[in-house]
Amino acid sequence: MAKIKWDKSLSICVELVDEQHKMLIDKLNDINQAIEQTLGAEKILKTFDFMIDYADFHFSTEEKHMIAHEYPEYKEHRKAHQEFKEMVNSMIEDFKEEGATEGLARSINTYLMNWLVKHIKGEDQQFGAWLDKKGICLKD
Ligand SMILES: [Fe+2]
Repeated sequence: MAKIKWDKSLSICVELVDEQHKMLIDKLNDINQAIEQTLGAEKILKTFDFMIDYADFHFSTEEKHMIAHEYPEYKEHRKAHQEFKEMVNSMIEDFKEEGATEGLARSINTYLMNWLVKHIKGEDQQFGAWLDKKGICLKD
């Protein structure tokens, strides 16, 4: 499974959010690595937990910026974040219940990577473009 790399095509108008996206991608790559190295269900689950905690923190940063700038798509965007968290949590439950196979870990990870890249290139960049249009690119 290929690792993902942050590049400029994933950039939005907010530097802090770009930095957090890089970190989140690192967390996903950690999961990838844990699976590749067949570190066992317990360790793989731990890397999932780290990623979920970080995703939570990151989503709230994005949402704070959206509230602060009265972004009209805020509710929809927040819903996407919530759906992601619910999806990940239910996948992790399946992973625990179904015996934590490597195949399942791989498919969860592939799903997460695809979701994240699609979300950044979609909803997150839309937010960035909206900030840009309003003349408020947030370079910290
Ligand atoms: Fe987002």
